[in-house]
Amino acid sequence: MERTFIAIKPDGVQRGLISEIITRFERKGFKLVGIKIMVPSNGFAQKHYHGLKERPFFNGLCNFLSSGPVVAMVWEGEGVIRYGRKLIGTDPQKSEPGTIRGDLAVVLGRNVIHGSDGPETAKDEISLWFKPEELVSYTNNAEKWIYGQN
Ligand code: GTP
Ligand code: MG
Repeated sequence: MERTFIAIKPDGVQRGLISEIITRFERKGFKLVGIKIMVPSNGFAQKHYHGLKERPFFNGLCNFLSSGPVVAMVWEGEGVIRYGRKLIGTDPQKSEPGTIRGDLAVVLGRNVIHGSDGPETAKDEISLWFKPEELVSYTNNAEKWIYGQN
């Protein structure tokens, strides 16, 4: 089953939004298969955002991501990479109400959450943030109600 990497950034943690954000993924029907809290080092943040290293905001972005605890998660479900991005929204100023950034953030640089933007980045980010044994494969009893039997 498809998996994506989701992180609640330091602003989301400090603002008390951990449970709010987890609830949105959980009630959609996605399954949490990995979670931990950590303060990423600046070097680790640079690895995470390596695709943006030529951008002028890169250093500020890495300083921000490493400025406090981050809740790193792996969520599983059909279409979770793409739909996870829909739950997240885009620029807080352009995101619709009902999305995480639309409801909970105001500016681009403090947008409370990260989500992988495609299958390749999901794979890379999951392996950067988690060891294989930190991910748990299990059956959730609600799955037959979420997906049906046939
Ligand atoms: P992530 O899920 O965090 O990767 O956000 P995204 O995929 O919506 O945006 P992108 O990968 O393009 O940029 C990564 C992060 O850099 C964003 O979440 C923003 O916090 C930040 N960012 C992007 N563009 C700008 C910008 O023009 N200025 C500043 N200050 N930050 C930016
Ligand atoms: Mg991105």
